Amino acid sequence: MIGNPLVEAAYIVAAVCFVLSLMWMSHPTTARRGVLVGEFGMFLAIVGTLLLKEVVDLPLIGAALLLGSAIGVPLAYMMPMTAIPQRTALSHSLGALAVALIGVVEMNKLAGHGAGLSFASVALAFEMMLGFLTCTASVLAFAKLQELVTTRPMVFKGQQIVNLCVFLAAIACAVGLALQPQSGALLIGFVVLAALFGVLLVAPIGGADMPTVIALLNAYAGLAASAMGFALSNKLLIITGALDGASGFILAVIMCKAMNRSFANVMFGGFGQVAADAGGAGEARPVRSASQEDAAMMLENATSVVIVPGYGMAVAQAQHKVSELYQSLTNKGVEVRFAIHPVAGRMPGHMNVLLAEANVPYEKLIEMDEINGDLPTTDVVLIIGANDVVNPAARDDPKSAIAGMPIIEADKARTVMVIKRSMKPGFAGIENELYYLDKTQMLFGDAKDFVAGMVKELSGSRGGH
Ligand code: TAP
Repeated sequence: MIGNPLVEAAYIVAAVCFVLSLMWMSHPTTARRGVLVGEFGMFLAIVGTLLLKEVVDLPLIGAALLLGSAIGVPLAYMMPMTAIPQRTALSHSLGALAVALIGVVEMNKLAGHGAGLSFASVALAFEMMLGFLTCTASVLAFAKLQELVTTRPMVFKGQQIVNLCVFLAAIACAVGLALQPQSGALLIGFVVLAALFGVLLVAPIGGADMPTVIALLNAYAGLAASAMGFALSNKLLIITGALDGASGFILAVIMCKAMNRSFANVMFGGFGQVAADAGGAGEARPVRSASQEDAAMMLENATSVVIVPGYGMAVAQAQHKVSELYQSLTNKGVEVRFAIHPVAGRMPGHMNVLLAEANVPYEKLIEMDEINGDLPTTDVVLIIGANDVVNPAARDDPKSAIAGMPIIEADKARTVMVIKRSMKPGFAGIENELYYLDKTQMLFGDAKDFVAGMVKELSGSRGGH
């Protein structure tokens, strides 16, 4: 039990900060404030914990803090935005490992006291199970996203039976430990089985679905931390773990919904695996293409332009050039807005973050549902490195892999221009009929270079409306 009033106060304020942080982070205009208040809450949580009477070895904690910062700070600076999903997976694996190892220590303590079945032993068994499986599952998710191992589903005959057996064996060990805490072979066997189950859980899932899996693992890590809070009677850990677990789960649900897919489809669907095979495999069909000069002229002569950014803009790091394009066209009297699809890119809010970084005014970023109604009266839709989120097959072809996924209806605009490097498919690995429409002009090239070329053309030309 926490007795120190200073600790209590720090914990209460920290918990309020975390709730506010989540609330503010859910909107781009308040997201920065959300991050700051979350950091302040974490600072209070750490200071409060250091004031606990159980915390005795401050030099050791200081050394761990320095070591963690020495790894974490460069990691944060070095990882590009496109690698955020795998960086997040790595953080989850370390967080889950920390929780799981504390669980081992506490289980050993219970065993040393000869304790039997108790609330703490059940909570510890639960959190160790989630902690170890989340740790190994997150490491594998990281390796898949970083392409250190194959991104294809790793499948073998009888896999589901093996998975079920390992899961049941781990649960049996957990029940044994909860009934009679012990530190011997049962504990070691439990750790091995839980860790193995984490690997087996993620192995059959394709690399393309890892972002959703990571949101789910985030929820597991949060639940493990919450269970640890119960075992240690630490209220703040219970609250933060529950917030983490709930937000991770909600995020995974939002991602599935925006892709119109079920959890089962993500976990067992092998989605996106045709990607490598589909691109360029079929016969080459004719498309219309245009140069930077032609494209700049079409944009300059338009009254309304909607830019649809996608994963390719993130890969090319084209957001600053896109912001310049926005500025240049706006100066010429063209109305420019951005259409934001909820799963454009590879992580939630990916496009909002990039465009905010490049100082595109937030009010110009319009959500998919809101902008779709305006597209039939829009002169030019300029798609920059987006593919699936504008693919009409999702709306028109019930057999398509992305059938039912809501899209930005770019095909309804008067003219469509698409910047991408080739005719290769996007994440879902399927063809996009939008590219073959009479009204569509393909602008082949790297997004950053192509947009930079258009900006140059526009700055060279005078006039406007
Ligand atoms: P994608 O469908 O993946 O298409 C991206 C396109 O960008 C590709 O067709 C690629 O074509 C092009 N590209 C790549 N690098 C480029 C570069 N340097 N310059 C120009 N173009 C480049 O992306 P999207 O439309 O944003 O859709 C996102 C997909 O990810 C959806 O299917 C969604 O379900 C999935 N997903 C999203 C999330 C979240 S939360 N955002 C999570 C999991 C899955 P080229 O190779 O020809 O250039």
